[in-house]
Parts: sequence; structure tokens; C-alpha cells
Amino acid sequence: MKCAVSWEDSKRNEAAALSQRLSLPLVELSDTCDGLLLVVGLENYYLKNTGKNDLGPLCVDFFSSRMKHRLKSGGGPLLKAVGPVKNDQRRVLDVTAGLGRDAYVLASQGFEVTLLERSSILFEMLNQEIGKQFLDDLQEADRASLSKMKLIHIDAVDFMRSTEEKFDVVCLDPMFPERSKSAKVKKDLQYLQLLHGVEDDGSALLPLARNIAIKKVVVKRPIHAPPLAGLVPNHSFKAKTLRLDVYLPP
Ligand SMILES: C[S@@+](CC[C@H](N)C(=O)[O-])C[C@H]1O[C@@H](n2cnc3c(N)ncnc32)[C@H](O)[C@@H]1O
Repeated sequence: MKCAVSWEDSKRNEAAALSQRLSLPLVELSDTCDGLLLVVGLENYYLKNTGKNDLGPLCVDFFSSRMKHRLKSGGGPLLKAVGPVKNDQRRVLDVTAGLGRDAYVLASQGFEVTLLERSSILFEMLNQEIGKQFLDDLQEADRASLSKMKLIHIDAVDFMRSTEEKFDVVCLDPMFPERSKSAKVKKDLQYLQLLHGVEDDGSALLPLARNIAIKKVVVKRPIHAPPLAGLVPNHSFKAKTLRLDVYLPP
């Protein structure tokens, strides 16, 4: 889908630089255009669809009430699947960073998380949020979490084929067409589909991930979805709408 960059209030220069980096047109927020807008807002970058079916804005926001709720309630099944943080087993690779929520949950528990994202728009949105660690008025605990996140703009297949690094845990959450009936997830998914179209199912990632994982690979799936690449996991953690499949190294 066509995409352009726009801005709010005083953010025009930042938006102009962003539009150059992304090679996307710069348009006024009030301009009528057909497609997606990446808006440099006062607090966050956000996506806005300009068609008839208004989805509402979508941003990368590690400090939202939704994220606070997830952290308060113990981080959900992802943390159970990844396991407790240990001094010599802190290194996690999040192969499909997306909106960075899983990565932030892990970083806030003390894991050192390398995030891979191939979409240049999502990379910019993540980079802006992670960059908040340099703001003066940020709480120290939040700064500490952000400082544990290292973001790389790359296709994970290329990264995993060429890296000599090993990671204690490798996490995968490739797109799945019918992930959940929840309206919130639907909105995120609709935006990701507007951005990328229909993606490959991520099957190629699993064998590569197993080669560089020291302890395990964790794959997030919708609860009733078949296992990724048809590979039966060693065990699974189930929640209401999703499943975390755990693969031990070969
Ligand atoms: C469902 S989202 C992940 C959501 C993420 N777990 C979160 O907590 O926000 C999947 C993301 O993986 C990215 N992705 C898919 N395949 C990839 C690949 N081969 N390399 C890098 N990123 C990839 C997509 O661009 C998309 O942003």
C-alpha cells in the first residue's frame, strides 16, 4: 500500500528527515491522500490509515496502559516459555520485532534483547521509542529496560545465516492471518497487513533459529494454529488465544 510521512505541530523537520530516510513523500496531515501515513507526533511516531475504514492510530508504545497491565500481570505466557532470567543466560534474539511488545516485556525482566525487523517503517517506529532512553524525564527503571534493547534493521533470514553469535533464547512471532478475534489484535494485524501485504508464513525462520539458540526457540502461535513449519514442539505453554511452542536445540 502507498505510504507517506506527515507531522504534527513543530515536528516538520523531523518528518522531512524521516521521509528522506524512507524515500517516502512528505505530506501535510490535512492533505487528502490515499493510503497509509506515518505521522511524527509530539510523543510518538504513529501509523494512520487515510481510507474510509478508519482504524485509529497505531504506535509503538512501551508505556501504554495495555503494556503496564501486561507487565503487572507477570508478562503472560511468554515469560513462562522463555524461563527465568539468569546471569549467564540473558541473551534473547527477537527475530520478528514488530511493535516490540514482546521484546520490551523481556527487557523489563532483565534480558538483553536483540530485535530484528525487516520493515523500514516499523524499524523507524521502534527506533524512536527505544531512543526515549535518552530523555531526561524518564523513570530509571524504564531507562534500564530500554537500554537492554538493541535494534537491527535486517531480514532475519540474512542475519541468522551470517551471524556467528549464539543466543540463549530465540523468539519468533511471524504473522499469522487469523490470529485472534480480539478487536485490539485485529487492528495491529490490519495495519501490519496494510504495510506488508500478505507475508510469508515464517517457516524458514525456525530451522535457522534452532541453529543459533543455546537453550531454546520459542514460537508464538494462535492457539489453534498448526505448529510452525509443521515441526512438533518439545512442549507448549497455552493461554486463552495463543500458544507458545518451545523447541530445544537439535
Ligand atoms: C506479528 S509481528 C510481531 C509482533 C511482536 N512479537 C510484538 O510483540 O509486537 C511480525 C513482525 O515480524 C516481522 N518479520 C517477519 N518476517 C521477518 C523476517 N524474515 N525478518 C525480520 N522481520 C520479519 C514483520 O515485519 C512484522 O513486523
